[in-house]
Amino acid sequence: MSNVPTIDLNDGVCITQLGFGVFQIKPDETAAAVKRALDIGYRHIDTAEMYGNEREVGQGIRDAGLDRAEVFVTSKLNNGCHEPDDARRAFDKTLEALGSDYVDLFLIHWPLPTLYGGDFVSTWKVLEEFSREGRARSVGVSNFQTAHLERLAAETGTVPSVNQIEVHPYFAQRQVQEFGAARGILTQAWSPIGGITFYREGSHGSTLDDPVIGAIARAHGKSPAQVTLRWGLQEGRSVIPKSTKPTRIAENIDVFDFELSADEIAAVDGLDTGRRGGPEPGAVTLEAYGREIPDA
Ligand SMILES: NC(=O)c1ccc[n+]([C@@H]2O[C@H](COP(=O)([O-])OP(=O)(O)OC[C@H]3O[C@@H](n4cnc5c(N)ncnc54)[C@H](OP(=O)(O)O)[C@@H]3O)[C@@H](O)[C@H]2O)c1
Repeated sequence: MSNVPTIDLNDGVCITQLGFGVFQIKPDETAAAVKRALDIGYRHIDTAEMYGNEREVGQGIRDAGLDRAEVFVTSKLNNGCHEPDDARRAFDKTLEALGSDYVDLFLIHWPLPTLYGGDFVSTWKVLEEFSREGRARSVGVSNFQTAHLERLAAETGTVPSVNQIEVHPYFAQRQVQEFGAARGILTQAWSPIGGITFYREGSHGSTLDDPVIGAIARAHGKSPAQVTLRWGLQEGRSVIPKSTKPTRIAENIDVFDFELSADEIAAVDGLDTGRRGGPEPGAVTLEAYGREIPDA
């Protein structure tokens, strides 16, 4: 039985707050990593069409011997498939690859503002179609900034349930988080332990080497990764850490036996540099980042 808390989304769907991310896990390592995560208590897996490992995520869930309904599965639309018919075709492939007739959450992966005149609103309406059909229990967005969220609100009658964005101690996107919170949109943190700060060259070092986080970790007898996850959880975000290493997969869910004080939370808040590690969402265009949908 999982001890991870759940959060009710704005559409009534219940999400497990801490999940397991599978970005950059090679397809031939994914089923084993997913099974291991599920065996030790994770009940939420975050994949995407562009990760090329949806089929292996489905396999890992079956290997774990769990009922499909026990696991919250998220996937995301391929950047090259925003046009409505492309999105429908891509979504069919996602379900086929996962070996399931539904996903729990389906996201627009990036807003792609320059593509098709920036018409992510039509794409969003197709996701709502998946929701009405019961093939996506919940629908949301990823990497949306406040202007994108404002436009969706102005042009449709609905709001996304989730906005999955880069959030870690060095880049907290407070304005986007607050805008979402005021509208009942759950912020889900990608790179929640700061992975983007150590697998990509940036203007700052790794969050895991930060002396403030290190001191808090020593005070609690926990690791910097655990402190960083705990900070995200206590601030109400969903977090989806990734690892392929069994000890770290276990470490990253072992975060429910300690609590950060208000001062410790404030100290981590104070580390925000305002500089993102990942790409500026407005710069993620199909030309720069597009890919064929792999035959997952
Ligand atoms: N929507 C988007 O655009 C978007 C973008 C990026 C990520 N995501 C999602 O968010 C998930 C997590 O993000 P992320 O993978 O970028 O970053 P992350 O989970 O913050 O960090 C992952 C990195 O940290 C290492 N690591 C994991 N646990 C550790 C620990 N306890 N101690 C030390 N190092 C540890 C991992 O290496 P090892 O594997 O070697 O342990 C990997 O290099 C992804 O898997 C994906 O599902 C979404």
